[in-house]
Amino acid sequence: MAATTNPIAAFFAAAWWNILTLVHSGWVFLPWIRPHWTVDQMADQRGRVVVITGGNSGTGYATAAAYYARGARVLLLCRSAERAAAAIADLQRGGVANVLSEMEYAPVDTSRAGTLEHIPCDLADLDSVAAAARAIAARVQRVDVLFANAGIMAMRGRTKQGYPLQFGTNVLGHQRLIALLLPQLRTPRSRPARIITVASAAHVSAPPGGVDYAALDARAARDAWLEYGESKWANIALAKYMHARWGPACADGVCGVPAPGTGEIISVAVHPGIVATNLFMHNAWAKWLSHKFTWALRCVSATAATGALNQIWAAEVADPVARELSGAYVWCYQCKGRERADLDAAAGEKVWAWCETQVARQE
Ligand SMILES: NC(=O)c1ccc[n+]([C@@H]2O[C@H](COP(=O)([O-])OP(=O)(O)OC[C@H]3O[C@@H](n4cnc5c(N)ncnc54)[C@H](OP(=O)(O)O)[C@@H]3O)[C@@H](O)[C@H]2O)c1
Repeated sequence: MAATTNPIAAFFAAAWWNILTLVHSGWVFLPWIRPHWTVDQMADQRGRVVVITGGNSGTGYATAAAYYARGARVLLLCRSAERAAAAIADLQRGGVANVLSEMEYAPVDTSRAGTLEHIPCDLADLDSVAAAARAIAARVQRVDVLFANAGIMAMRGRTKQGYPLQFGTNVLGHQRLIALLLPQLRTPRSRPARIITVASAAHVSAPPGGVDYAALDARAARDAWLEYGESKWANIALAKYMHARWGPACADGVCGVPAPGTGEIISVAVHPGIVATNLFMHNAWAKWLSHKFTWALRCVSATAATGALNQIWAAEVADPVARELSGAYVWCYQCKGRERADLDAAAGEKVWAWCETQVARQE
């Protein structure tokens, strides 16, 4: 959204941006907004290490399925050992979630398949995140793709360290994980690592300025949807900051090729679309409506496999698109989107610094 001083131009620019945001939210009933990339276009993943937070459900599960089927070593960071074990069993049986998040099975080519490992990680507990990072470092020297995918929406509560649950899980937990995994993300390699952050079009509902640090510091309870928008705004801000700090150098929209071995990271934020996953099932009403009016759910939402396409594409698209994408926000489908005008690397630096301060306070 371009900034303008003319109030009439600003009004129309904002209206146009809102329309574009809605249109690019992946509504199934808009037939001209369709994925134009499929997982069949993914390269062989043997030898690659992929870390996925929240890999036991929704878009994280679908992402794990795509990488596992193509030979990657997939580390699933999940808070529940039971749900992780069930997801691994489903992935090995070729489980694909339908629009009601129920599994339907198709055989997996075991000769091509990779491996699946559960790493316990509760993003709402900084100690658990640190333990997960240590467990990863003990198992692998290099991470090729990190999907900061896990999230909760419009849920109330506090993290173990007392932060508002949504910001604590969606932002603080992920920032800590990324900060601790930097050695594995920046080890020399021929192709830069990628961090794909799953954000949302809902970032538009963040408060003015994006993050209300005073409210966060006061641990104040606010509107649950505003807090969700704030956390997703911060996800995009962090993705921009990571690009500014470790991404390929860009000038006038032209990005240099990250030099092999210098530790660059391609960082992209994505909106997965309106996806029928367990994200909505935490709400009793949404769950009841989904089962009662499944036909309506099918009309307005994509399955998890389709919803995961944006993030997998962002992780797999080849250069020069990949390096041009670093620092960008991808919306539906597989194209650079327009994020809120107040989002930039400086905003992300502030989020990163705030998160680092919280960690310093715990020590
Ligand atoms: N679905 C949509 O329409 C939509 C739209 C825009 C953005 N998104 C974003 O997409 C991402 C994936 O969501 P989804 O739709 O796939 O929802 P989902 O099916 O509910 O999956 C969310 C995943 O996050 C995990 N998670 C939640 N809290 C966690 C914690 N404290 N520690 C570790 N893992 C935790 C969940 O684990 P459990 O199974 O243990 O709960 C689950 O694996 C989220 O970041 C969400 O904000 C979704």
